[in-house]
Amino acid sequence: MRERKGIILAGGFGSRLHPLTKVTSKQLLPIFNKPMIYYPLSNLIMSGIREILIISTPKHLEHYKNLLGNGKNFGIQIKYKIQEYPNGIAEGLILAEKFLKGKNLCLILGDNIFFGKGIENLFTSASKSPDQFIFVKEVRNPNKYGVLKTKRNKLIKIIEKPKKFVSKYAVTGIYFFNNTVINYAKKLKPSHRNELEITDLNNLLIKKDELKIMKLNKFQNWHDAGSHEDYLNTCINIFKYETKYKTLVGSIEYECYKQQILSRKQIVNNSYKNNYYFDSLLSKLNENL
Ligand code: TTP
Repeated sequence: MRERKGIILAGGFGSRLHPLTKVTSKQLLPIFNKPMIYYPLSNLIMSGIREILIISTPKHLEHYKNLLGNGKNFGIQIKYKIQEYPNGIAEGLILAEKFLKGKNLCLILGDNIFFGKGIENLFTSASKSPDQFIFVKEVRNPNKYGVLKTKRNKLIKIIEKPKKFVSKYAVTGIYFFNNTVINYAKKLKPSHRNELEITDLNNLLIKKDELKIMKLNKFQNWHDAGSHEDYLNTCINIFKYETKYKTLVGSIEYECYKQQILSRKQIVNNSYKNNYYFDSLLSKLNENL
């Protein structure tokens, strides 16, 4: 099996989070004790992915480089690519073509956060599979998302922000695709909002019967931190989860430790000490001593 590469989309306008995003990138905002991008990066690492491309705006890409470097400190490889203008999520695939060098991929949105029981197994099995997957989650307010329409258990299409009730299943921001999607993305036409839409791409794959859907269960949490209310809820839920289960969610170091690509010693040597994050990390590392 050819190993997948990862892509994190960390550009966009971030207009709904203004003025928080006036001078900084949305995916650098803190989610409790870590920058937002730590969470999708950790999701890729837990899926077994080691080569990752971060795509962001001309204004913000340097900040990501300063934060994460070439990934060596984490035992992974990180590359960077500018998206000149937010022309849509599907454009990210076209921008990643050179980086992918023909390999399959996992695209994750930089403001999407997944955690909870079984997430790692789910993502790892999707990553290892030769098939293409998207993940859906039952939500209370489906009209905010791309929503799954099914008929007699057969997937028909995804409808973007439906005005009438279609189903409760929202499409989340993690996509395990094969390299062939790049050619499909290149054929997409910009939508009414002038973007290459990921929903159009997914619908194309559905038409060709090339897409599988997996459902996240109630223990598998998904947050899209794109609005003020969702952002705050994400922070609160991460705080509650970490304190209740005495664990760390979205810690790149801890994820790399669990994946045996970083040792305790390497983590301790490379970390800023005397802060809450380091103390939490250390107590997790010490559990296995
Ligand atoms: P959105 O939340 O749909 O868009 P946005 O981040 O521009 O925010 P807003 O609607 O408030 O203006 O984007 C989802 C994710 O994809 C987010 O992490 C940003 C990223 N993105 C890009 O990197 N490039 C793009 O062209 C688009 C549209 C989004």
